[in-house]
Amino acid sequence: MQNFDVINPTRILFGDNHYEKLSELIKSYTDQPKIMLAYGGGSIFKNGIHKKVMDHLSDFEIIEFGGIEANPQFTTLMQAAEICKKENIEFVLALGGGSVIDGVKFIAGATKYDGDPWEVLLREEGKVFSAAISFGTILTLPATGSEANSGAVISRSELNEKRTMGGPLFFPKFSLCNPNVVASLPKRQIANGIVDAFMHTLEQYLTYPTDNLLQERQAEGILSTLIEIGPDVMKDPSNYKLASNLMWCATHALNGNLRLGVPTDWCTHMIGHELTAFFGIDHARTLAIIAPRLYENQFSNKKGKLVQYGKRVWNLTGSDQEIAKTALQKTEAFFQNLGIETTISSYTKVDDNFPELVKQRFIERGWVAMGERQAITPEDVKQIVQAAL
Ligand code: NZQ
Ligand code: ZN
Repeated sequence: MQNFDVINPTRILFGDNHYEKLSELIKSYTDQPKIMLAYGGGSIFKNGIHKKVMDHLSDFEIIEFGGIEANPQFTTLMQAAEICKKENIEFVLALGGGSVIDGVKFIAGATKYDGDPWEVLLREEGKVFSAAISFGTILTLPATGSEANSGAVISRSELNEKRTMGGPLFFPKFSLCNPNVVASLPKRQIANGIVDAFMHTLEQYLTYPTDNLLQERQAEGILSTLIEIGPDVMKDPSNYKLASNLMWCATHALNGNLRLGVPTDWCTHMIGHELTAFFGIDHARTLAIIAPRLYENQFSNKKGKLVQYGKRVWNLTGSDQEIAKTALQKTEAFFQNLGIETTISSYTKVDDNFPELVKQRFIERGWVAMGERQAITPEDVKQIVQAAL
């Protein structure tokens, strides 16, 4: 087992009746009577969550900041950071899915940053967020795990860029995770959530067999649970048992636990972000497009783990070669049965030179040896994207 050093300070309040604790929770992080409530494009007004939350925030003066986009945009978030600076805001409450929560992580850092925070996202030397204001989250979409981790992904569509950020400052102080929110989600978003959680698990599991037996079984537990409940949640999103298991799987898939003591891949995500940056394809769908092709490209490097995955998660028997291949087919079929297409051209028109463009971007960024064995080269990336067209 590899060595590790771990802390996850986020308090998770899971279940359907934690709203009444909101006020006291927030007061433990700020003395200011004024806080910011940040949200997305308005789903919280239609499903009544905004009202429920506001009913428990009467102790505060609330500055509302709405309009954070899916794939949160740098320029929008900068407006929120300016307001926080001007109004001396010390606490932001994120009410939404991964995009709003990620956006609030960025706002928290940008508010305390002197200079242009884009340089932090570009990872320019010496440019880091060294302070951040506090924030908590109320999760409305189980998918990203952002409610329980310290990472964020910020887009800048005018530059076709989607960049990651994070660090210990960006753990939410608390997250309210109420599975009832699943009932109001469009099927498209439920499917996205299942696939994103599945792929977060595979990124940290589908590498090579390791000595961390517990982590491997935990990953297999999440994958098996998602396969078991995924199609049923789609049919019956009001079912609390199903919704709560989906939400808990998604949190566990990316709360930092699965990566402990094991190698990780993450290259599907790195390529997938390019598809969102150029074509606006939903994050989870980019993963469903890229992963099957990446696993084919890396078949021999990943074969040992593919066999384990096939046997333990899909209950397959046969030769190792058959099991590994069938496990991949089953994975792609699982995504497709949730209504998720697995080629780029089913979402958008795409130029023939797009695979080369992605390759060049990876080279420019110095991403030349990726995946758990550093065996994925920019040329492999090009071939993976080519195969995904
Ligand atoms: O904006 P509103 O109107 O609220 O609508 C949203 C949005 O259109 C809607 N929605 C959310 N909760 C709802 C709801 N509609 C009805 N009822 C509800 N209860 O769903 C749409 C998508 O929301 P979004 O937050 O964009 O989805 P998701 O949670 O999948 O987040 C995706 C973003 O997270 C990033 C992705 O790259 C993408 O930008 N990720 C963040 C990660 C992290 N921080 O750890 C890891 C992930 O790999 C991912 O990269
Ligand atoms: Zn993801």
